Amino acid sequence: MQTATTLEALRNSVAKLRSDGATIGLVPTMGALHEGHLTLVRRAREACDHVVASIFVNPTQFGPNEDLDAYPRQLAEDTAMLESEGCALLWAPGVAEMYPDGFVTNISVSKVSEGFCGADRPGHFDGVATVVCKLFNQVRPDMAFFGEKDFQQLAVIRSMARDLDLTHPHVHAIVGVATVREPDGLAMSSRNRYLSEADRAAAATLPAAMKRAIAQIEGGAAVEASLNELKAALIAAGFSSVDYAELADARSLAVLGDLAGTPARLLVAARIGGTRLIDNMAVG
Ligand code: PAF
Repeated sequence: MQTATTLEALRNSVAKLRSDGATIGLVPTMGALHEGHLTLVRRAREACDHVVASIFVNPTQFGPNEDLDAYPRQLAEDTAMLESEGCALLWAPGVAEMYPDGFVTNISVSKVSEGFCGADRPGHFDGVATVVCKLFNQVRPDMAFFGEKDFQQLAVIRSMARDLDLTHPHVHAIVGVATVREPDGLAMSSRNRYLSEADRAAAATLPAAMKRAIAQIEGGAAVEASLNELKAALIAAGFSSVDYAELADARSLAVLGDLAGTPARLLVAARIGGTRLIDNMAVG
């Protein structure tokens, strides 16, 4: 596996990978890789001839009081993992390569970015949309792979790619890959490593309480009452707050008061021991 840290090196390496008409799958990440990321790489390998993974801890998607400095960085370990998964090229630019002096452009996707994490993390999805648009233009992959764990992020990226005509000709498909979970159900996340042992054990309440709420809603219980029960279960388990717990239309992310026959999603963000966990599951 080659590693490119400059745009020029990236373009040369991508051109070589493409020279025989081969297809490229892109797996954008911020590093601190876990089984969820490796699943994206495996999916990309199945669908495309070559996989390009990116590792860039994108400063523009972190708010001023968020964990940019503390965000885990382990390039050597990540490189070894990508290599053993058969990744062809790692794109690992520095901040100055991605945002050179004089960088003034911002991509802002409205509607799907507005509620949920968009309300709690102002500017976050602008940062995500801008850097993902740059990654698409830099690598020009045939397909790009993202985890459904960040369900709203996936919706924002799909909207951005559609509206800016990025899906054709270079990124033909944006593929959402099902969340990979720990044996107790907790969704894998680079941020899980922030949790103390006790908080890590309590965190498994999140998927369990979500499943319970989904069973209730699918069984005809009132959505609001089921969501209130879910929030109370999280607080009782030791979560300090629940940023949101909502039923939403799986495509538009419009909040739903009941199961309206359209594909729906339960989305939750809650804090435990200073760490903000998010999760989502299909309903109906
Ligand atoms: O999901 C992530 O790791 C990041 O938000 C992404 C898509 C790599 C953009 O920085």
